[in-house]
Amino acid sequence: MKQRENFGSKLGIIMATAGSALGLGNIYRFPCEAGANGGGAFLIVYLAVALLVGTTLMLSEFIIGRRSHSNPIGAFRVLEGKKNGWMSIGWLGVVCAFLILAFYTTVAGWTLGYLGKAAANHFAGNDLAQIQEQFAAFTTHPWLPVVCQLAFLALTAIVVARGVKDGIEKWSKILMPLLLVIMVVLCVKSLTMPGAAEGMRFFFKPDFSKINGHVLISAMGQSFFSLSIGMGALITYGSYIGAKDNMVSSSVSVVLADTLVAVLAGIIIFPAAFSFGIKPEAGASLVFTTLPMVFQQMTGGYFFCLIFFVLLVIATLTSTISLLEVIVATATEELKLSRTKAAVLGSLVTAVIGLLATLSFRTGSPLHINGKIFFDILDSATALYLMPIGGLLIVLFVGWRMKKADAIDELTNGGTLRVGIRKVIYYLIRYMAPVAILVIFISQLVGD
Ligand code: TRP
Repeated sequence: MKQRENFGSKLGIIMATAGSALGLGNIYRFPCEAGANGGGAFLIVYLAVALLVGTTLMLSEFIIGRRSHSNPIGAFRVLEGKKNGWMSIGWLGVVCAFLILAFYTTVAGWTLGYLGKAAANHFAGNDLAQIQEQFAAFTTHPWLPVVCQLAFLALTAIVVARGVKDGIEKWSKILMPLLLVIMVVLCVKSLTMPGAAEGMRFFFKPDFSKINGHVLISAMGQSFFSLSIGMGALITYGSYIGAKDNMVSSSVSVVLADTLVAVLAGIIIFPAAFSFGIKPEAGASLVFTTLPMVFQQMTGGYFFCLIFFVLLVIATLTSTISLLEVIVATATEELKLSRTKAAVLGSLVTAVIGLLATLSFRTGSPLHINGKIFFDILDSATALYLMPIGGLLIVLFVGWRMKKADAIDELTNGGTLRVGIRKVIYYLIRYMAPVAILVIFISQLVGD
């Protein structure tokens, strides 16, 4: 059998997983969701689910991945054999990877377009109305966002075709910390703007009466999306983790880093948005109009804006890489395609679905179903349905189907690692996570 690649070091796993986790989910989707779901109420639920369910689900995926050394479909065949339903978790994951990548690259394309705008100094001297107009014009342009999306997919395919170690690890290691630095600078700026306090109140002061089934499922969907869990991306990454690496501490670090970046994004967006009079429910335009406005008011704004969009593009790229990697790992191992062929084919299929998502933003586009645009349908189908279902099946598999000794063996690297809380973790996987996911999932069905 061909030797599979492994991540080079423990820092490599953390950085690659963090690279997958950190992206538009934190900086773009989190503020949109928090804004639409009551701010503080959403944040509280989000933190609880991400820290408790998120960490246990991430570990469960790592356990499956490293134990099987395989892609999400192959993993369940290796562990369970062919004749049973478990492989459908893998299939669900691969379908999910295509759907997420399709609409994710819409916004990824926007970031590329906005990098161009930043470089060309397109925001200079514009007031809020003009900046909002620019966003609307860009996203509904007949071909520009499509070209940007295809360019982004091509970039992703090139990195993925070159393989895990050279591609994914190297990029993540250098650039993710830099993103954190620039976000802290932006926080400081945003917090010192007039009217910032009102935004902070919106984001941090929970109004518990706002918590309902929709807020619960949105927060859970967002945490799964943001942590890249529930569809096998981290089964795939788990399969590259070496035998001696500590998965427990790696998962905890990634969850904390991801949560930190999402909260930072909130601290940047909400005070500034309130200060400019942008409504927190503004959705897509929240980030793409608030940020250019903030940069305009900063000394050295042109450079900060440029660097920010460079880093955002790269953070997004390390996420699209992890999504395409699920498809490529599956296609190379299950269909025996070469990495390059798999990357090209995978991105072509994604491009077809993705174009529809991008074009669905055009006014009068026929890509509306029941008043929802195709982009939003892909987004909700994955975050509110497929990922919770996938996540539930994954924790049930590790907690109830796998032998306890095997799961503990993975958590402790065959007993060589002292993980004092291994039993607690195991019970969180076995009981807490499935119950939490089920309750939240059902609350949405009942609440609607
Ligand atoms: N987590 C990434 C983000 O927050 C997006 C992402 C990458 C993802 N890989 C994934 C989401 C796998 C779900 C599943 O931007």
